[in-house]
Amino acid sequence: MDAKIEPDDTRRIIVALDFATERAALDLLGRLDPAKCRVKVGKELFTACGPGLLREIHRRGFATFLDLKFHDIPNTVAGAVRAAAANPGVWMLNVHASGGRAMLDAAVAASQSQNGSARPLVIGVTVLTSLNDVDLAELGLRNRAREQALALARLCLEAGLDGVVCSAAEAALLRRELGPGFLLVTPGIRRPEDGKEDQKRTMGPAEAIAAGADYLVVGRPVTRAENPSAALESFCGEIHGKAPNLS
Ligand code: C5P
Repeated sequence: MDAKIEPDDTRRIIVALDFATERAALDLLGRLDPAKCRVKVGKELFTACGPGLLREIHRRGFATFLDLKFHDIPNTVAGAVRAAAANPGVWMLNVHASGGRAMLDAAVAASQSQNGSARPLVIGVTVLTSLNDVDLAELGLRNRAREQALALARLCLEAGLDGVVCSAAEAALLRRELGPGFLLVTPGIRRPEDGKEDQKRTMGPAEAIAAGADYLVVGRPVTRAENPSAALESFCGEIHGKAPNLS
């Protein structure tokens, strides 16, 4: 079954619903247009609210990137992916690439085993951007963070995943090395007028798209804006007509 890709997709902004309660998340959704963005649900909101919230988000017309970063033995990850893929609201989900080839193969296979509906996109997490070269050495890894990210992204491509999450700073390298058609999803996006908050290396929306990103994860610049809808419009305006078609 085909993946949930719209080739001429205009919804390239994924708004991160980093909230602790359903009420806060749904309040924000009430101020956004589902034709202009998708949303990301991570560990905090999902653990607090569960899969019912994903169905409610879907009922309101939004597609969800379920950011739970599965990482376990292949059988367990396959079960989790199957459960996520059975939820009609899940458009994209992710797994840790460092779970290894068998786990990645199992995740891809499980995403496809649903009856009749399009499968969710499965993307890999390479090296967490909170880890630097020193942290990797401490974990017993010989590669530097950038080399490790490329090696794991290549593994994801070989295993048939749809793409990876990466920092915008890595997007150009990954696009060059891995070619077109492999989705790059990048957080850490800021306009000049936005605060960086805890993000260290940020990139502007148009710059990230030019570097090869397909989807941009944007949190606080939209969710904490006085007018979230206007902030989203501004991000969409910056990348309008610049994002490549997907296939
Ligand atoms: O508010 P902000 O735009 O910084 O939110 C970015 C979102 O992307 C958050 O949900 C954060 O957890 C996520 N993320 C990130 N950096 C990564 C991976 C995910 O900022 N490397």
